[in-house]
Amino acid sequence: MTERAPHIQIPMKTRFDQLKDPVKNDTDENPSVNVVNYQTWRAQKLANAPANPLDIMVDIDDLAAPSKLELEKIRANCAKANFSFYRTPIEKQPDREHFINFAATLGLSNTEAHRSAGDDGIVALELSSKKSQAGYIPYTNRRLSWHTDGYYNYHGPDHAIRAMALHCARPAQSGGENAILDPDIAYIRLRDENPDFISAFMAEDAMTIPENREDNGKVRPTNIGPVFFIDGSGELNMRFTARTRNITWKDDETTRQAVEFLGDVLANDPLIIRTRLNAGEGIICNNVLHNRTGFDKDDQDNSERLLYRARYYQRVSAPKQKNDS
Ligand SMILES: [Fe+2]
Repeated sequence: MTERAPHIQIPMKTRFDQLKDPVKNDTDENPSVNVVNYQTWRAQKLANAPANPLDIMVDIDDLAAPSKLELEKIRANCAKANFSFYRTPIEKQPDREHFINFAATLGLSNTEAHRSAGDDGIVALELSSKKSQAGYIPYTNRRLSWHTDGYYNYHGPDHAIRAMALHCARPAQSGGENAILDPDIAYIRLRDENPDFISAFMAEDAMTIPENREDNGKVRPTNIGPVFFIDGSGELNMRFTARTRNITWKDDETTRQAVEFLGDVLANDPLIIRTRLNAGEGIICNNVLHNRTGFDKDDQDNSERLLYRARYYQRVSAPKQKNDS
């Protein structure tokens, strides 16, 4: 099923109209603009997809002062696969400021104003007994099902969470593994199966997250939007959750079938990458599909697992061209 075509030396830029309209003729490539047709993009995505975590790992000697080359490797990984892993020497564990500044050098500066974020925009993911975090699975040791971050907070293609960074300060003693799938691969699998799945998932009312009313009276209003959307720069983005409660899919047979098919992809796809972040390791991504296994079940009151997370309204900046200064 996994295709390994030879590497093709073409720009990675996607073709806006062909992604948006899956039945459009793929042969009307216009060489005067720097775009490629869908089939070429598809072949390149599959050929370049990482097969294991080390394919997409970048060693950063000091997160407080990353080199241009190190940053460029991360940008290149994100351009290719929408995510990159990095690792820093354990003796140089960065503090929160270094992590957030590191992400900023990759074009990520506009953090989400999350209810659990500190002034620096970082959310500490750890077991929590705080009242404001009660009932939210990220702050427990339970498994998290497949999702993209901030799927409940979509306000148009350019006002959605489009990137996310995670840094592991302390791993769990056991478990806490992440699985990751590039949303572009999910798009390709769906379109290969049935182009109508793409049309259904691009509908503005494909996925509705109902209003959330908290004990303190705060209300997050109903959030309606597509699964796949093209942002202002022509990039493909995804909004999704595999949860079955507190979500309403469009009442439409094609949408139902697309949800079911995507569930199969997320259970079986050979291009899913699985990893367990060690201390000093992290992920920079364009809001990829991901999940988390449960962890430290026998020690649930004192698990020390701690990950820093920041979410952004931008995407990771593109690799610099060789002729850039
Ligand atoms: Fe997440």
